[in-house]
Amino acid sequence: MNENLWNDLDVEATLDAPIGALTWYKSGGHAEVLISPRSVEALQTLCQRFHESDIPMRVLGSGANLLVADDGVDGAVVRLNHSIFQEAHWHELDHGHPTRIGAGTDLMALVQESARRGLSGLSQLAGIPATIGGAIRMNAGGSYGDTAQSVHSIELLTTNGELRRMDAAKLDFGYRHCALPDGIVIAAHFNLRADDAVQIRAHVKEVFEYKKRTQPMADRSAGCMFKNPIDPSTGKRESAGRLIDLAGMKGKSVGGAFVSERHGNFIGLLAGGRANDVLALAFDVQQRVLDHSGIQLEREVVIWSQRGDVL
Ligand code: EPU
Repeated sequence: MNENLWNDLDVEATLDAPIGALTWYKSGGHAEVLISPRSVEALQTLCQRFHESDIPMRVLGSGANLLVADDGVDGAVVRLNHSIFQEAHWHELDHGHPTRIGAGTDLMALVQESARRGLSGLSQLAGIPATIGGAIRMNAGGSYGDTAQSVHSIELLTTNGELRRMDAAKLDFGYRHCALPDGIVIAAHFNLRADDAVQIRAHVKEVFEYKKRTQPMADRSAGCMFKNPIDPSTGKRESAGRLIDLAGMKGKSVGGAFVSERHGNFIGLLAGGRANDVLALAFDVQQRVLDHSGIQLEREVVIWSQRGDVL
């Protein structure tokens, strides 16, 4: 990789970066280069140069819904972990505007901070590990609600470095879906409302306690591996975890990867286990559920690999 692509820019760059270690699985391969821009302008120039040179560019959020295969990835990985991408413009609320939050902001910290300020709109997302950019891209959520319900608009840096503001309606949000054009989300504007702080905090606690009770939060995992599929016989979404459970896959393992006994849709990884163990086990789970219930599970976790999509 030609270092002149970023040498003159205000960025921090690491060659042959072990990005697998930055995911919640703490396992997996390297990226050719990992870049943390320190300004929007630097990111803009990077996008233009990588686009012109036809070099793939991926964005790493908090690595909570991502598996990097052991062979790693070509191209550049960008991380918006500089403070310029983690700002929250709380003052905009005083003027009746949506609140601008930088895409690199930690969602769990934001949920806590907005509850502390007595602002409602995000408590349904308590306990979900993500950056704001990642939460938008996946429309992160659960049974209490999703990210889309309070998004007003986003700021997107397109692959050729153009800055665009897009209204939520244009993003066609759906269940774990967002029709995001190619590019990098650099901020989102949320509709937050002043509300009863005690009630908001109680809701945050309820959502978090439910996760703690039903999910293996201490395991190394990427949350739910599969999306909840629509059961053709009822037309309703069925819990993938329940289907995996019914297919008898709880406790099954490949290498260091294992299906959680607490929630079937979580694939944990023991320390020292390989990212590819998770992939192999996810494939087995998918097959067994198909054989058992006739339902094809679709992956929710994003997989980066030299071979493209693996499942
Ligand atoms: N169930 C089982 N066995 C299992 C898992 C679940 O029988 O192994 C049953 C439960 O007892 C319950 C039903 O299935 O009756 C639904 O389970 P749960 O409430 O845990 O919800 P889920 O549909 O499995 C979804 C999201 C989670 C989110 C929870 C709670 C998906 C794929 N999963 O799980 O999201 O936290 O609701 O809001 O949409 C994630 O996306 O990473 C994730 C963890």
